Amino acid sequence: MTITLGFDVYGTLIDTAGVTEALHEFAGDRAVAFSTMWRDKQLEYSFRRGLMQNYQHFGICTKNALDYTCSMLGVEIAEKDKEKLLAGYRVLPPFPDVKSSLPALKNNHFRLFAFSNGRPDDLASLLENSGISSYFEDVISTDEIKSFKPNPAVYAHFLRRSGAKAHAAWLISGNPFDVIGAVSAGMSGAWVNRTGKGIFDPWELRPTATIRSLSELADAILST
Ligand code: LAC
Repeated sequence: MTITLGFDVYGTLIDTAGVTEALHEFAGDRAVAFSTMWRDKQLEYSFRRGLMQNYQHFGICTKNALDYTCSMLGVEIAEKDKEKLLAGYRVLPPFPDVKSSLPALKNNHFRLFAFSNGRPDDLASLLENSGISSYFEDVISTDEIKSFKPNPAVYAHFLRRSGAKAHAAWLISGNPFDVIGAVSAGMSGAWVNRTGKGIFDPWELRPTATIRSLSELADAILST
């Protein structure tokens, strides 16, 4: 049986904390707190827009969250600098295990897809910049159905677009809410807990597998 893998992008393949360095100029020693709040608010805005069925693309959630974080932390950033930060969001770095793990997974006959809230052009930029686009059969964006994770409709969309059956499809994500969303929608879910210090939401829905690095993924899947 061929197994289909849907890789979450932001927080799984690509490190959103990569923007922290650029934030030092504006937020000083609060750059890490700024980056964390920006990311949390970006996700909250996507959840809320999904629930409200008032869709604006993920880039708008990112921009609105940046403005919110500036106001909340009292950090002033000029519009042109905000544009630079947002441009930096299109070239965020991959996590260190990504480049070495994807070729082995592809050679192991897994089907690889990128699957993300991001818009197709932003995703193309991120994957190109990281030098990993060639490992993916396709890039599937929730923008195609104008909604966001963890709406069950987006996981159904992933299955439709990839032509996979839920029992042979895995979502791979560093974001617990995404793993829970996929498992709730009938897929398997691997949680990538790179630091070993992440906290998985204490719900009744658990990851099918938990790994510390993508290099552990093939073994984790084949042993379930
Ligand atoms: C994504 C968000 C969840 O890439 O990070 O879909």
